[in-house]
Amino acid sequence: VASSQPRFSSTLPGRYYYDPAIFERERERLFGRLWTCVGLAQQLPRPGDFRTVELAGESILLLRTTDDELRAFYNVCRHRGARLCTTRQGHASGALQCLYHAWTYALDGRLIGAPNILQAADFDRTAYGLLPVPLTLWQGLLWLSLAEQPPSLATQIGPALFERFGDQPTFDRYTVGHLTAARTLVYSVAANWKIIVENFTECYHCSPVHPEFVRLLPGFRTATAYSGPGYAGTPLADDVEAFSITGRASRSRLPGLVDEDERLYYGFVLPPNVLVNLLPDHVVIHIAEPIGPAQTQVTCHWLFDPTMAVEPNFDPSDAVELFDLVNRQDWQVCELTQQGVRSRAYHHGGLYVPSEYELRQFNDFVLAHLAEEPTGAD
Ligand code: FES
Ligand SMILES: [Fe+2]
Repeated sequence: VASSQPRFSSTLPGRYYYDPAIFERERERLFGRLWTCVGLAQQLPRPGDFRTVELAGESILLLRTTDDELRAFYNVCRHRGARLCTTRQGHASGALQCLYHAWTYALDGRLIGAPNILQAADFDRTAYGLLPVPLTLWQGLLWLSLAEQPPSLATQIGPALFERFGDQPTFDRYTVGHLTAARTLVYSVAANWKIIVENFTECYHCSPVHPEFVRLLPGFRTATAYSGPGYAGTPLADDVEAFSITGRASRSRLPGLVDEDERLYYGFVLPPNVLVNLLPDHVVIHIAEPIGPAQTQVTCHWLFDPTMAVEPNFDPSDAVELFDLVNRQDWQVCELTQQGVRSRAYHHGGLYVPSEYELRQFNDFVLAHLAEEPTGAD
């Protein structure tokens, strides 16, 4: 992969990280068309639970219906367009009612109440249900697409999985969709979303930025831990028991794993906005939500074996403290980078070094989606 490209070449120009016009273009062509991850299914455990999320400038209502199905709708009343749900999350007992003229919708989106007109012979209530948004549930992650005919999620994230695991079923053994998020932290980072994803794709920074991390995973000291499709994971240091702040193990390995997974770490990006870390006894998932050209909200979930996570004395803090530390180290350098990209000294961009080839792949992915349509398309 890397060898066919020049060893040193320019990164994206600085404007890609602060220009509002490019941010708008990303909203339209990337987040408005691709599948974007907006959270975990387990954040909506009971029928009637709802969340509202922002996607490409739209407010989207995510909910679990009375029939226990996950659905997504534009959070827009079909009467005169008022915002329907006004809180980030909540519980609706059976129906949602607009504050303005009290149109009422069932949780499956049907219009079931419209004062004085619902029964009118010339009013077709079936034409005024909430507008659905395509939703895919994959490994416990909820993905939305605003495209009218979205391609399959597999075509979007399959290449990243192949890059990391080849054709091996390694990832499936972690059964990510069955794990329990025992801790969730939300970070507000003053950096463009791409800076955050790019930082995750390269381990060139690990040695200077993450001394605790490379102490546990010495393969990251040399910036060459990732070596192309199907690499074998990065082993824990011989003298540590587990990926935890103490280096000691306090949990057994996840139920689906086999001996060969026992001491390995894997990290990869599911484009455009999910960062995945697999450890023998837990999984850490970051979901990045672009807020503005220079502002991103990152939600980080720590996932564990569900049978262990319900134990009364279950304490995940040795795992949480470690990645929380790594996160804060990362956000610091991401914010420093954001401060530099506006400079005329960075106008034309910086430099990819050979070990940053995955960063370049991510940038190529972004550029491919931002490109103009071929003439005649759309
Ligand atoms: S805008 Fe919602 S009922 Fe009128
Ligand atoms: Fe990092």
